Amino acid sequence: MEVVIVPDAKAGGELIAGAVADLIGRKPEALIGVITGSTPLPIYQALAERVRAGSVDVSKARFAQLDEYVGLPADHPESYRSVLRRECLEPLGVGLDAFIGPDGTATDVQAAADSYDRALVEAGGADLQLLGIGTDGHIGFNEPCSSLASRTRIKTLTEQTRVDNARFFGGDIDAVPHHVLTQGIGTILSARHLVLLATGEQKADAVAAAVEGPVAAVCPGSALQLHPHVTVVVDEAAASKLKLAGYFRHAYDNKPEWQGI
Ligand code: PGA
Repeated sequence: MEVVIVPDAKAGGELIAGAVADLIGRKPEALIGVITGSTPLPIYQALAERVRAGSVDVSKARFAQLDEYVGLPADHPESYRSVLRRECLEPLGVGLDAFIGPDGTATDVQAAADSYDRALVEAGGADLQLLGIGTDGHIGFNEPCSSLASRTRIKTLTEQTRVDNARFFGGDIDAVPHHVLTQGIGTILSARHLVLLATGEQKADAVAAAVEGPVAAVCPGSALQLHPHVTVVVDEAAASKLKLAGYFRHAYDNKPEWQGI
């Protein structure tokens, strides 16, 4: 995998927005896997600026959701469908007709998961899947010891993840749902290019385990080592526990210009 160490979150957002824009330039109907959380906001801001400047046309692009809370009404401000609409789609001028996601309100949760997994396959699979990483190493909501072959399904959140996410629910951990629907690790690995952004010191251990640790379900992010095209973009703080940081910098500094990420 390629690890790119950037000075700050804004630079990471610019780099990744550039890769998304290049992809859409080559393939206007590309399917982009999009994510929630604090980390991706600089990506969406940088991409929206490019849309406003007219340097990328996203009118044919398609967008797919990574994960969703179970049981939150779809119009709840913290349902991931609402969050993506507010923070990603609307700033890009994209409507829900170009968006697919799992139904977190379904009574038959497994049927909703299976149906979303099929919808992703029928849509041709994600051309580029954005990812964050949890402090516990999760990707999507695949918590530690998720099957590395898993498809979209229900998961139970760890207490750590619910503590981390309580900030979106007014600091009230009891308001954070226990259950989620998430693309499985196998589903995520089906995307053609995986781009993970991690920023801040609180992600340093998870990044080191995912990038330099053994491939092991206890750190779901380590499954990225099995994929042929992965770009991990980290700021200095999130890179601070990487033993090979010097090599990663050297490789990126000497990268052929035509290569892109
Ligand atoms: P964050 O979440 O971007 O809000 O830190 C990342 C994640 O849990 O995957």
